Amino acid sequence: VPIVLVCNRDHELRAFVNVCRHRGSLLCDGVGRRETLQCPYHAWTYDLDGSLRNAPRADTEPGFDREGLSLVPVAVGTWGPFVFVNPDPAGGTLEEHLGDLPRLIAEGGVDVDALVFYQRAETEYEANWKVCVENFLECYHCAVAHPSFSKAIDIAPGAYTLEEQPTFASQYGPAKNGGGGVYDAVGEVDCGQFHLLFPGTTINVMPGRGNLSIGPIVPRGAERTYRSLDYFFLPEADERWIADYLELDRQVGAEDRVLVERVQTGMRSGVIRHGALMPESERLIAHFERLLVDALGAEQ
Ligand code: FES
Ligand SMILES: [Fe+2]
Repeated sequence: VPIVLVCNRDHELRAFVNVCRHRGSLLCDGVGRRETLQCPYHAWTYDLDGSLRNAPRADTEPGFDREGLSLVPVAVGTWGPFVFVNPDPAGGTLEEHLGDLPRLIAEGGVDVDALVFYQRAETEYEANWKVCVENFLECYHCAVAHPSFSKAIDIAPGAYTLEEQPTFASQYGPAKNGGGGVYDAVGEVDCGQFHLLFPGTTINVMPGRGNLSIGPIVPRGAERTYRSLDYFFLPEADERWIADYLELDRQVGAEDRVLVERVQTGMRSGVIRHGALMPESERLIAHFERLLVDALGAEQ
């Protein structure tokens, strides 16, 4: 669902479906500073509160009524520097959906209010979004497929822990004793946190300096997935440390791309009707699938 987010003079955030009420064109592109939102198709113009201010010839077209032609509002909520929107009017509040997540991140040594945006990484995968989510939800493959990650993070079953939560799934990986990884995992954050906020938002903290990355896994088709990840660090963060950490993350991402695209190719064969989950190491996948089935209202 295309969304436009606006911030008015009083610094109030509002979000709308980014679709013109006239004949449904996309309304806005990119980022800008404006007093109004104007559709590029026939110049219908909306105030920042979403109401239709003007439409060319509105005064001469008989019976034109601008009431009821406001932009469709969507719920908006914030957590530190992160803005969430929800186009489902029956959806609960952001606080309900986040649950204990803000507390867990804070207790892990990350003050989200102190974080500053650093950069966005964008990727597309030739795989179904659920294959990407399932790959994110287990570190059973880490020892095999992520040698550099496994040097920095303790992925042994006793150290690396999994936790089901009502609206998310969490993995905790402490820095490996003695380090030895490609980046310095020893710092004020002693344990990595990798959360999947249902259905597809990943929130990651690596051990070491204050950091967090966050972004959605978005279906773009049955076999295509878009993912973006916004990296945040503390303002005084050391550039060398950031570069080492980003290089590790880039490497892990490249390794995961191969894994998920190979799964998609295998599944596409249609020969395997379903997989076989490891009851402990892959239990977060089972949790995700239960949440998904509940959300879809399908039969278990
Ligand atoms: S579709 Fe937007 S003004 Fe016509
Ligand atoms: Fe992976």
